Amino acid sequence: MTKKIGFFIGSLRKDSYNKKVAETFSDLLPEGYESVFVKIDDLPFYNEDIETPEQTPTEWTRFREEVKDLDGVIFVTPEYNRSVPAVLKNALDVGSRPYGQSVWDKKPGLVVTASPGGVGGFGANHHLRQSLVFLNVPTLQQPEAYIGNITNLLDEDGNIIQGTVDFFQTILDAYLDFAGKLNA
Ligand code: FNR
Repeated sequence: MTKKIGFFIGSLRKDSYNKKVAETFSDLLPEGYESVFVKIDDLPFYNEDIETPEQTPTEWTRFREEVKDLDGVIFVTPEYNRSVPAVLKNALDVGSRPYGQSVWDKKPGLVVTASPGGVGGFGANHHLRQSLVFLNVPTLQQPEAYIGNITNLLDEDGNIIQGTVDFFQTILDAYLDFAGKLNA
């Protein structure tokens, strides 16, 4: 059966480098896998007051159903002020509730951060990992994916250069192997 891999992108920017990175990973998925780009920009900010059958936003419900159906979760995000962009953190929070019904539980995870800066989003990468520990998302540890100086890794058409694509393939192969063992 086809395995569904969800992509969560921490940037809403039309020409986002992280979106390009996520699309490149998606293109590298082998046969038997399907990519799902999960929409997170329409999720109302998490608020426990409206976590009631009458008031739960339809966007929260749609998001939770979509994540529940995934076999793996790949986060591709920029670093904002050395941490996780709010839109992505909100998505983590929405998926984590109601209490005891988190849709993240046991989903094999991969964290990729990309930045025009040299540190490659290290701060966001590790803040995100901190939340994923609590959410019980077993996350690939090696190889790590801090994609620094991203503007130097694009060709004239804005596509990721081959050497970097090869590195992505190595990461993806390790992730699918890891996820496959957990899903088995
Ligand atoms: C940034 N940027 C940034 N970069 C970085 O390496 N570390 C950081 O802490 C920050 N902080 C930060 C805060 C805010 C509010 C913005 C808007 C930007 C720069 C960021 O890496 C750059 O804008 C990327 O291009 C964003 O990723 P996308 O949108 O290209 O995927």
